[in-house]
Amino acid sequence: MTHSQQLGVCYYPEHWPEDLWINDAQKMADTGINWVRIAEFAWSRIEPSPGKFDWDWLDKIVDILGKAGLKVVMCTPTATPPKWLVDQIPDMVAVNANGQPRKFGSRRHYSFSHTGYLKESKRITEAVARRYGDSPYVQAWQTDNEYGCHETTYSWCASSLNAFRDWLEKKYQTIEKLNQAWGNVFWSMEYNNFNEIELPNLTVTEANPSHNFDFRQFSSDQVKKFNAAQVGIIKKYSPGRPVSHNYMGHFTEFDHREVAKDLDIVAWDSYPIGFLQNMQLIAREDKKLLHDCYRVGDPDFQAYHHDLYRGMGRLWIMEQQPGPVNWAKYNPIPHPGAVRLWTWEAFAHDAEVVSYFRWRQAPFAQEQMHAGLMYRNNTPSPGYQEVEQVNQELQKITLPTTTPSSIALVHDYEACWITELDGQTQDFHYTRLLLDFYKAVRVNGGSLDIVGKDSSFEGYKLILIPSFVHLTEDLLNKINKSGAKVLAGPRTGIKTPDFQLLEHLSLEGLGFQVARIDALPRELPIDVEWHNVKGTLSIWREHGQASGISEGKAADRMPILTSGNKGSYLCGWPDQKLLNHIMAAQMQAAGLTPITLPEYLRVRQRGNCLIFTNYGPEVVEIPEAYQGELLLGNRKLSQADVTIIKIS
Ligand code: GAL
Repeated sequence: MTHSQQLGVCYYPEHWPEDLWINDAQKMADTGINWVRIAEFAWSRIEPSPGKFDWDWLDKIVDILGKAGLKVVMCTPTATPPKWLVDQIPDMVAVNANGQPRKFGSRRHYSFSHTGYLKESKRITEAVARRYGDSPYVQAWQTDNEYGCHETTYSWCASSLNAFRDWLEKKYQTIEKLNQAWGNVFWSMEYNNFNEIELPNLTVTEANPSHNFDFRQFSSDQVKKFNAAQVGIIKKYSPGRPVSHNYMGHFTEFDHREVAKDLDIVAWDSYPIGFLQNMQLIAREDKKLLHDCYRVGDPDFQAYHHDLYRGMGRLWIMEQQPGPVNWAKYNPIPHPGAVRLWTWEAFAHDAEVVSYFRWRQAPFAQEQMHAGLMYRNNTPSPGYQEVEQVNQELQKITLPTTTPSSIALVHDYEACWITELDGQTQDFHYTRLLLDFYKAVRVNGGSLDIVGKDSSFEGYKLILIPSFVHLTEDLLNKINKSGAKVLAGPRTGIKTPDFQLLEHLSLEGLGFQVARIDALPRELPIDVEWHNVKGTLSIWREHGQASGISEGKAADRMPILTSGNKGSYLCGWPDQKLLNHIMAAQMQAAGLTPITLPEYLRVRQRGNCLIFTNYGPEVVEIPEAYQGELLLGNRKLSQADVTIIKIS
């Protein structure tokens, strides 16, 4: 699909006196901004008291923005139900895993399963959609805001419980089937009917993982249902306008692929510096990365999410970090050029729109310390100047259409959940492992697509399955039929889709048969050597029988990398350097040409353009192997620089 790259901004007219609005709109338009997202938290101003709507202000700002040549992304305000509504239906609030109701006073205080709130959310959606559905200025929609943010995917409330019981009954039909699927004979957990089943919280020790897994699937379905209800209403009143939702980074609590089936635009909110801090806390501490990139973010994290979400629909960045944020452990100022870097990188990955959060820094309430493009006193912040620069550059450069990559990485939400629930080691972090594989391709100059299990795998040369705990023989065959070279990674194919252990842990097609698992602390890895590369396997080490070709040798005498008639298999989690080497060999074997990039330099191919980004502190040079016409920047890149080369 051809489209030019556009800019946007998140704007909160309800926070500012009306006499600023016209100037704001004009300045946005002058900056080259095309899209303005509004109203996602404005329910208390749209409907100050039950049934009494105040549209005047919203009509006025839509008009002002539209007349300034800006396109409006109108939002449904359901992430912030007002106080009067919570007082009307107090049990609509979500309950946390400790059984405590979540109070009014911030946002996202609702349970996806509360039928009364669902009705209210449809009512307000209908009111907004009816009012603005055919406005010439409202050109796109956003449902709610960041589903699941602030730990709100799961609610342990009575509404969830009732809906969960119905969901289970629909899934299993008879209680006997449920008992069998969950293995409830274990610890005398058998039920006599569906009404006996509780939510899997507050159990003495861990709840049955199958019980938990079903609760996760159920909760994910509740998000899908909640979103689909809004989309249906918007489509009715605003036909032809695309509907989006803004997903988050590093967030896997519901199946985004399923929710995205009802969306046109799959947007996400990109805060590279905050994410670097958070990933460090949760997944693995990498002091060097944190030191070298703390003002720009992880060089692969944003790219990974762009590729993940663009695999589900048209990609937008609905919120782009514009300066320091307020919510991470530390909130440093971005390196000069970083806002521009993030913007170009999003475009490199096929984003149609990059929209900055927010126009002007808020003087009050929770996010006072969060930057905007404008300072609180309405003078431009450094982020603003970088947006101006991008706008100038966009006048000259339109990137070509994105073509599919040669490499696909298979990602699956259920695999992530089973992995989390199955435990066995606290260091196995699904997203971290996928990022390691993703990184290994990127440091070898590759571009990837991230695909789900229902994707067509045709046309790829190399398909990576970093981990897929319940991979079935059928799916492996389907992937294998594409003719691509397949590399699977640890913790693949050892469970049934029902979360039970397979009788034979068989991955024969990959040349390995798993017998048992050595779940190791990260600090106690196994030394290995593979084609003269010394490295380690850690966290998840598989013991078993190689039935095909086996390469390398390990201190524990178990295989490292095996190959069978359907692909190759990594029998443990390699350190990044070893994985980079293995990946280069896999790429080569798939007929691709790996090019080793300087540390922190990355490249993404879009059509006949190569977009280079340097996240690291050193000046680095683009390798000789890349030749073509320089459209932007230089062959040498300082930190946060961008270079675009057009190849013939
Ligand atoms: C996002 C959210 C925004 C704002 C922003 C601050 O998660 O959607 O409303 O809170 O973070 O960085």
